[in-house]
Amino acid sequence: MNKKRAAIQSIGILTSGGDCPGLNAVIRAVGKSIATQGVEIFGFLEGFTGLVENRYIKLDASQLSGLLTVGGTILRTSRNKPNKMPIPGGGFRDMTGAAVEAYRRLKLDCLICLGGGGTQKNAYHLMKEGGLNIITCPKTIDNDVYGTDVCFGFDTGMTIATEAIDRLHTTASSHHRVMVVDIMGNRSGWLALSAGVAGGADVILIPEIPYHMDVIAKSLIERMRRGKMFSIVAIAEGAHPAEKTEKKSGKESPKQLKRRGKEPVSAILAAHLERVTGLETRVTSLGHLQRGGIPTPTDRVLCTQFGTKAAELAWERQFGVMVAKRGQEFLPVPLKDIVGKKRVVPLDHSLVKAARSVNTCLGDR
Ligand code: F6P
Repeated sequence: MNKKRAAIQSIGILTSGGDCPGLNAVIRAVGKSIATQGVEIFGFLEGFTGLVENRYIKLDASQLSGLLTVGGTILRTSRNKPNKMPIPGGGFRDMTGAAVEAYRRLKLDCLICLGGGGTQKNAYHLMKEGGLNIITCPKTIDNDVYGTDVCFGFDTGMTIATEAIDRLHTTASSHHRVMVVDIMGNRSGWLALSAGVAGGADVILIPEIPYHMDVIAKSLIERMRRGKMFSIVAIAEGAHPAEKTEKKSGKESPKQLKRRGKEPVSAILAAHLERVTGLETRVTSLGHLQRGGIPTPTDRVLCTQFGTKAAELAWERQFGVMVAKRGQEFLPVPLKDIVGKKRVVPLDHSLVKAARSVNTCLGDR
């Protein structure tokens, strides 16, 4: 970092959206890169809520130390949007003005926002409507932020889901059962596909490839003919059936279905497979386990690279950008080019091809 360009004096940082392992590692990397240059760092609490309400902690060397391996986020998080803040008694209020005021009051040179697709959108809103200098980093176990090859948190989520599949394998084989494992990922299939391939799942179902229950049943029966009396079905939370008659509960996340008192698609699928194969079936929902605990070494490295690049961009006063990883490079991409877009699994992606090549059933005809 070129010390002669020390034009910035204070920055804000916040974590927003669902948490994931690695957030603290990015905070640490940003902080350690610039705290020693005399830059003040304000950590806003609970995402954009802290900014709007002017609630923050000052991050100095002592807070920035020992964070690399700590899961969650020391700044806590929320899914609140500056232009749609919940108000006591119900309803929402546009608090963009309050966010801008807090930023100006602290005389911040920029605000670094760590989050997924929603966070990119909120950060862009503050840049456009409030004139804030923004830098973002892409976080999510879903790996669905547009414009970057990878998001931090994904490797840890994938590792946890893979270990779960490995464990389900042995018990499935002992009992001759079909194990259906529900994997997060929102509306994209990166997590289920990657963990499914890593764990050798027999069936992998992702939102990008609507499935047919009869195709899945046929593939399990085929396995039974070959003497394999157990199977692992990895299903992404956004996966949904193709047939109209099967669609009743499709396209809604397990959380939405639960709220409406409906059965998730994984439970419907499991019941169908049990009926058709005659094998006992169990459903395991990994849920928030996939977002907890310490980041993997790969994520720690990635987070350090994302965070130090964000600090470098702040130092160079390159704003209105997200730090993206493209190939081996970490580079700024304009927020305007990525907001509102989602990175889903392309049907011709090499991982889809690889899964098919090792005879994994993807549920399509
Ligand atoms: O975006 C991360 C994620 O874990 C998704 O995979 C999942 O759909 C969602 O967040 C769950 O949200 P919450 O933590 O609010 O239940």
